[in-house]
Amino acid sequence: MLVFFVFHLIGLIIFDNNRSGQSCLNFFAQHNSEFSRNTFGGTIPLSGASIPLTILGLLGNRVAGPLPEEIGTISTLQELLLSGNQFTGVLPDSLGDLTNLEDFRIDGNPISGRIPSFFANWTKMERLDMQGTSLQGPFPPGFSSLTNLSELRVTDINISGTFPPLETMESFKYLILRNCQLYGSIPSFIGNMKKLKRLDLSFNNFTGLIPKSWENLELDYLFLTNNMLSGSIPDWILSNKHKMDISFNSFNGSANNICPSSNVSLVASYSPSVKNLTSSCLSKNLTCTEKAMNYELYINCGGQNVTVDGKVYQSDKAAIATTSFYNYGKWAISSTGYFVGDSDAQYIAEINESLLLNTANSQLYKSARLNPLSLRYYALCMQTGNYTVNLHFAEIMFSEFGFSRNGRRIFDVSIQGKKVLENFDITKKAGGVRRGVVLSFTTLVENTLEIHFQWLGKGTMSIPTRGGYGPLISAISITPNFTPKKEDSGGGLLNAAVPAILVSTCIFLIMIFVVLFISRRKNHVKSEELKSLESMTGYFSLRQIKTATKNFAPENKIGEGGFGSVYKGRLNDGTLIAVKQLSSKSRQGNREFINEVGMISAFQHPNLVKLFGCCVEGNQLLVIYEYMENNSLARALFGPEEVNLNLDWPTRSKICMDIAKGLTHLHEESMIKIVHRDIKATNVLLDSDLNAKISDFGLAKLDEGEDTHISTRIAGTIGYMAPEYAMRGYLTDKADVYSFGIVVLELVSGKSNTNFRPKEDSVYLLDIAYVLQEQGKILELVDSCLGRNYSKKKVNRMLNIALLCTHRSPSLRPKMSTVISMLEGKTPVSVEPIKIKRTESEVSRFKAFERLSPDSHTFGVSTDASWTNSTMSASIREDETVTTFNSSTPLIDLE
Ligand SMILES: *[C@@H]1O[C@H](CO)[C@@H](O)[C@H](O)[C@H]1NC(C)=O
Ligand SMILES: *[C@@H]1O[C@H](CO)[C@@H](O)[C@H](O)[C@H]1NC(C)=O
Ligand SMILES: *[C@@H]1O[C@H](CO)[C@@H](O)[C@H](O)[C@H]1NC(C)=O
Ligand SMILES: *[C@@H]1O[C@H](CO)[C@@H](O)[C@H](O)[C@H]1NC(C)=O
Ligand SMILES: *[C@@H]1O[C@H](CO)[C@@H](O)[C@H](O)[C@H]1NC(C)=O
Ligand SMILES: *[C@@H]1O[C@H](CO)[C@@H](O)[C@H](O)[C@H]1NC(C)=O
Ligand SMILES: *[C@@H]1O[C@H](CO)[C@@H](O)[C@H](O)[C@H]1NC(C)=O
Ligand SMILES: *[C@@H]1O[C@H](CO)[C@@H](O)[C@H](O)[C@H]1NC(C)=O
Ligand SMILES: *[C@@H]1O[C@H](CO)[C@@H](O)[C@H](O)[C@H]1NC(C)=O
Repeated sequence: MLVFFVFHLIGLIIFDNNRSGQSCLNFFAQHNSEFSRNTFGGTIPLSGASIPLTILGLLGNRVAGPLPEEIGTISTLQELLLSGNQFTGVLPDSLGDLTNLEDFRIDGNPISGRIPSFFANWTKMERLDMQGTSLQGPFPPGFSSLTNLSELRVTDINISGTFPPLETMESFKYLILRNCQLYGSIPSFIGNMKKLKRLDLSFNNFTGLIPKSWENLELDYLFLTNNMLSGSIPDWILSNKHKMDISFNSFNGSANNICPSSNVSLVASYSPSVKNLTSSCLSKNLTCTEKAMNYELYINCGGQNVTVDGKVYQSDKAAIATTSFYNYGKWAISSTGYFVGDSDAQYIAEINESLLLNTANSQLYKSARLNPLSLRYYALCMQTGNYTVNLHFAEIMFSEFGFSRNGRRIFDVSIQGKKVLENFDITKKAGGVRRGVVLSFTTLVENTLEIHFQWLGKGTMSIPTRGGYGPLISAISITPNFTPKKEDSGGGLLNAAVPAILVSTCIFLIMIFVVLFISRRKNHVKSEELKSLESMTGYFSLRQIKTATKNFAPENKIGEGGFGSVYKGRLNDGTLIAVKQLSSKSRQGNREFINEVGMISAFQHPNLVKLFGCCVEGNQLLVIYEYMENNSLARALFGPEEVNLNLDWPTRSKICMDIAKGLTHLHEESMIKIVHRDIKATNVLLDSDLNAKISDFGLAKLDEGEDTHISTRIAGTIGYMAPEYAMRGYLTDKADVYSFGIVVLELVSGKSNTNFRPKEDSVYLLDIAYVLQEQGKILELVDSCLGRNYSKKKVNRMLNIALLCTHRSPSLRPKMSTVISMLEGKTPVSVEPIKIKRTESEVSRFKAFERLSPDSHTFGVSTDASWTNSTMSASIREDETVTTFNSSTPLIDLE
């Protein structure tokens, strides 16, 4: 009776001695769900005597416990395949009786003890696999008598000795002695193994030269990576058409090679003693030759560029396979190894994002690098200091159900040569498959940072496919734990000092604003808020901005305003930015700048444009924002055909809501409450997904609550300014509500308030709206390009809200939060807009007002005046005397 102690038996293959397999007893249940749900425990009714077995296979199951002695009684056994299980203890001596054994595999089992001496009894042995066990060397005496052995895979065990005496064994096709702590020289007798196709002696500590006798071998694969071989790299390797990996060695001969070389990996193959290398990738740590100025890195391993938390995780789709090195510029990737038994396996794993469970930032996990042996990422030219390395993992190849749930992926990770994860199992750490997990490490970096993922023979190899084992990494982020030097100029004390001064200038400006704010409001600003101010705003050097915008190249100009231009730029790390250049000559410029930087940095909201930082250098005042792909709402609505986006109704409706949300945040939600003063279609920007964000805080003013509302200086844009403010300088947040109403009218009608003059006497779109409203034909206002594709009810509601918002009396205009509620249909749009004809004096005042800035009508909407600042010339500015009103100006009271 053969007794088998099995804790979780999923598959059992038992063939009888008919090698052709015709009459096999098959308990094989790999794809058989009935069996796979079963747990066999106790005894399996097989008699070794009655059924002469030749093959016993338990591949990739979760069988645990010691190997039963009884196996040794199946003397007919030719193949004993036990890889990928959890057998523990020593190999029982009884196995020595299996003298017919030809194939023995115990990969990935934590079998312990010495390599047993009875191996020498297995004279018929042809294949012997023991990768990732806990066995210890040396090879037993007599092992070399196994002259029929053609495949030997011994990896990741401690043999701790010189190369074993395998001279007489000339049948080898595959000889793999990897990571066995072997040292000394590599023997020339391997050159006599004429059948040898694959030779892997990597991850040992071999020294000396590559024997000359090897040059006649006809190898498909040669792996000598990670040893200490010296001398010159032989020509037969350099010119080889097959995969040769001699990376990470200590060669010290002639060094006029380049890397990468097509099939031959030479990464870091040279000794540090060789100084005149022609290529920096040949040197030990890939030490960069330029000044090391990098300080952060975000990689979406195996995937596309994706933006997470404002950082672009760079795409990493270079063709990486058996022996590869790829340099992306700021970082590089090096790979070694092939998937045993699957030459077509992919080195990138992918999954549909929707299958990920409970995973934040799931776009980082939908792709991953997969490697059968060794994968290294290098961050190059890094500034010296301590860094935080975040590794993002998710098991995306296995599933919870069926056969593939038996897969176990186990690998190690080292950072800077120090092991940080040993026998790491993503699924265990993440609490299941398809779940993301982020592990964080701190490390000191001088110049190059190396992250090494390595498979050490553990876990399963052929579940769910043969090409599915080995390390899997989804994304990497590397951030400095120090304040990096951000200037990438030629060096020297001056260059080091200047940016520091400028950074403090920038922060100083923000602080002034905050202090100003505190003293005015006499409110407490939480220290966190202050901190976030600092962290949010970066300092950029003029040089960086010049590089990003190609020295303010005309083709990068995306907007033009009275105060300067707006340029598109691309930072070194690929981030797109918009740079607003304020002319610094005027006082307005300075005030504008402080306002802009100070105001925006105080806010963070999805519907407010994000500030990246600023730059003060020479006579330049630059504000750097996130780049908005779709430019401004004005351009989308009123632009010439080629830029007009023909926004559909749902999009318009969404944009309206976005603006309302942004304004609500400014007026009501944030701790600092401000009036924007310049809400208009050119200041509403659209990102790639047509989300609307409010920009241009140059005119924004603190809403000082109870304090005086009367402003002596008035600024804004004609056509959008609330009458009480334009006339009397009476400023409250309701002035923004008025402007919002105008923008909504424009949004629905597709026409610009200031440009719309079908008849001479209708100055404003708003006036037309009143007239049509009175005549009950308000829907005539709807943009003709919408056709009939809109909801009349909703358009009606939106127009009524717009008219309500543009109510003459600020107190009758709704608050922005109420507007949101109205837009959502939760609050009825209460008041019928009041039909008031403008008084004569009012009309003349408006007309006079217009004349003061004659270009306003065309400018505010001129089609290329995109992005921002058409305000500048179209608006009435604080210091332009002609437009300065003060509170003694006779008031026209409309109420
Ligand atoms: C080798 O096999 C013989 C029988 O063929 C047996 O007597 C001997 O004990 C075995 N040696 C070892 C080390 O198991
Ligand atoms: C080795 O293999 C050859 C050919 O396959 C066979 O003739 C020979 O008997 C084998 N030797 C042993 C010791 O099994
Ligand atoms: C490997 O084995 C040798 C001798 O048995 C021992 O000295 C050495 O410490 C072992 N190495 C490791 C890493 O366990
Ligand atoms: C490798 O060998 C060298 C020289 O023999 C020795 O200094 C070094 O410690 C060895 N490294 C390992 C990892 O055993
Ligand atoms: C290369 O290194 C080996 C081993 O360290 C040393 O014996 C040899 O002299 C070196 N050769 C050269 C040319 O530096
Ligand atoms: C590098 O220097 C060594 C001697 O130090 C010399 O043998 C070798 O030719 C040099 N290689 C190159 C590419 O200059
Ligand atoms: C390479 O990096 C390791 C770890 O950072 C360091 O210990 C070693 O000295 C470096 N080697 C060279 C040649 O710079
Ligand atoms: C890095 O961190 C270590 C441990 O916290 C510290 O001892 C060391 O001084 C730091 N190095 C640098 C360059 O900041
Ligand atoms: C990803 O972004 C980088 C710049 O960060 C750019 O060079 C590259 O072309 C982008 N790749 C893809 C596939 O979009």
